Parts: sequence; C-alpha cells; structure tokens
Amino acid sequence: MKKILLIHGPNLNLLGEREPDIYGRMTLAEIDKRLTGIAQERGVELQTIQSNSEGAIINAIQEARTWASGLLINPGAFTHYSLAIRDALTAVRLPVVEVHISNVFAREEFRHRSVIAPVCVGSVCGFGWRSYDLALTGLLEHLNSPLETK
Ligand code: DQA
Repeated sequence: MKKILLIHGPNLNLLGEREPDIYGRMTLAEIDKRLTGIAQERGVELQTIQSNSEGAIINAIQEARTWASGLLINPGAFTHYSLAIRDALTAVRLPVVEVHISNVFAREEFRHRSVIAPVCVGSVCGFGWRSYDLALTGLLEHLNSPLETK
C-alpha cells in the first residue's frame, strides 16, 4: 500500500478559529479525518503531522524518505521564504504537491511568491479544505503515471 505524508506548517493548528473568512471553519483534526478517509477509499495510507517549527518540518521530510511514496505540504508562511524546507524537499527526491487553503494570489503581494513551488510536481490553492483532496488526487495520478513532459 502506498504511503503519503501530509505536512501542515505553522498556525494551521488554529484552523477553525483562525481568520475563518479566509481559512474556513473546519478544524485541522476534521480536515485530517476527512482526508484520511478519502485516502483509504483510494487505497493509500495517509499520515499527517502539524508543526509550528521549521526544524520539525525538515526532520519529518527527511524521515519520510525512508517510508513515503510522496508528500503533500501546506508550509503556511514558510512557503514564502523557507529555503531550508525547499532544500529538504529537493534532498529527499520524493514527489511533492504544495497545498494552500486560500487563494494566495488573490491576497497580499508577499504571498504571491512561493520558494517551495519550483521543487514541487504541482500546487493547489484556493479551494478551502478541498485543496487537500485535489492535491492528493494530483499526487496519486502523478505516482501512477508521471507525465512525459515532466
Ligand atoms: C496558507 C497561505 C499562507 O500564505 C499563510 O501564511 C498560511 C496558510 C494557506 O493554506 O492558504 O499560513 O498556506
């Protein structure tokens, strides 16, 4: 069975109470539960972690190279500047899909740049919690048959 790691970055533990007009009312636990169910239906095992710390996220990425087939990551604000997370993703050479709940391109200019996106298979943003579902679909499609243009 394929195993996927979903990484949630800083402040995503506050989903449900954090700026609900932007991030919705679903809690992180609810999102994880729904996505774990969706993953099971698709025959894959999903593990999830959330951390507010860059080092813990890097450690999780490094450890995933020993057991995971691919990664989903919502790096939170680290998206916009963490070269250390980007380097970790490059180092482990696992396929990665970047996820954002909000449409980062419709928000402040500093959110328009992702240092993570260039090392990902693709990115999904703006669909609320469904961004995770779409990202999982994209990652599984990629694992089953990578596009020849990539
Ligand atoms: C976010 C977008 C980021 O700009 C922000 O810092 C977050 C959440 C999203 O899921 O929309 O923490 O990654």
